[in-house]
Amino acid sequence: MNIEASERMKNFESGIFSRLKTAVEKRKLIDQSFIDLSLGTPDIPPVEQVRAKLAEESLKKTSYGYTLGGLTRFNEAVSNYYKRVNNVDLAAESEVLQTMGSQEGLVHLPLAFCNPGDIVITTNPAYLAYDAGIKLAGAESYDLPLLKENDYLPQIKDIPESVAKKAKLLILNFPGNPVPATATKGFLTEVIAFAKKYNILILHDAAYSEFYYTKEPVINILTMPGAKDVCIETNSLSKSFSLAGARIAYFVGNAQAIQILKNLKSNLDYGVFSPIQEAAIVALDHAEEITKQVRKVFSQRYDIMSKGLTDLGWNVAPSSSGMFLWAEYPEEIDDETFVFDLIENKGIAMVPGSAFGSEGNGYVRIALVQDKALLENALVKLAKK
Ligand SMILES: Cc1ncc(COP(=O)(O)O)c(C=O)c1O
Repeated sequence: MNIEASERMKNFESGIFSRLKTAVEKRKLIDQSFIDLSLGTPDIPPVEQVRAKLAEESLKKTSYGYTLGGLTRFNEAVSNYYKRVNNVDLAAESEVLQTMGSQEGLVHLPLAFCNPGDIVITTNPAYLAYDAGIKLAGAESYDLPLLKENDYLPQIKDIPESVAKKAKLLILNFPGNPVPATATKGFLTEVIAFAKKYNILILHDAAYSEFYYTKEPVINILTMPGAKDVCIETNSLSKSFSLAGARIAYFVGNAQAIQILKNLKSNLDYGVFSPIQEAAIVALDHAEEITKQVRKVFSQRYDIMSKGLTDLGWNVAPSSSGMFLWAEYPEEIDDETFVFDLIENKGIAMVPGSAFGSEGNGYVRIALVQDKALLENALVKLAKK
């Protein structure tokens, strides 16, 4: 029998990330000192209290049933966290939806809001799940370039009226992956006014909201006047609470949009393992202490890498947030060639910027997921001719 994939699957052929993985794994076998700065998986473990809760709940005989939409207490913990940290009011029942990680929600979301041929506005470069979701829904993307001369902020004013009229969704991500830009109040005001004018739902991905290295936190879009009329936000426990493998996240904001997403999700899965939800509640209830420590660790790493690379002649995108560095390397070769050379010859992995969109050519994304000593070691390796 000849099994053929659907036409749709042509959109999902494995590309640069699987080639990168193969090259890194091959090299790691022969190079004990290989330094992997490619994937954004947090290297610090979840705090003991969170792990203990997961273990305790897992031992209970009653923990193994379907959980469907999840525990109401989880929604309440999210709502309390948003109130404490952002001063945003969220109704636990109607304005919070639990998902199995934000990737799952992000990839499914366009199915719930877009008909085939509708436009989704997003950025180039962007986190790849957005494009996967757009393609799965048969929608079309319209990409706003993130350029150095605009401080890597998309230019809303450049969106043609014909595109705005056909658009159903606008996907944004601050602090961003791969470009760790943060939005200003002025920018968010402009985005919300635009979305209202053209009846477009904003999806804001806040996966890195706790990764800021300034006194003031990054501005949460839901604090902006009128945001809840047009916006939903996703956030995840993967990064801020190091629960990436445990798969738990949530969507919050506009109740009508949350209800539509809930209807879709109730047909897709039967919920997150309840011990994971219980552990996530403990994490959210202790968010301030946990994320303060995360910020301390990542801001030190950020400073070491950004200063070190600048001294080596790299052009690091200025930023005070996020889990990544976005940088132009000082060589006149394309980013894929640069990265594969680095893996082979210097024993360091990063991701070529073009993996996230054509505007990433000439850049690399560096994940700050190794400790200070290894980052310093990476700089020494990079300095060697
Ligand atoms: C911007 C962004 N959003 C969402 C995700 C998905 O995170 P998760 O599915 O673990 O919640 C990631 C993971 O790297 C990310 O970088």
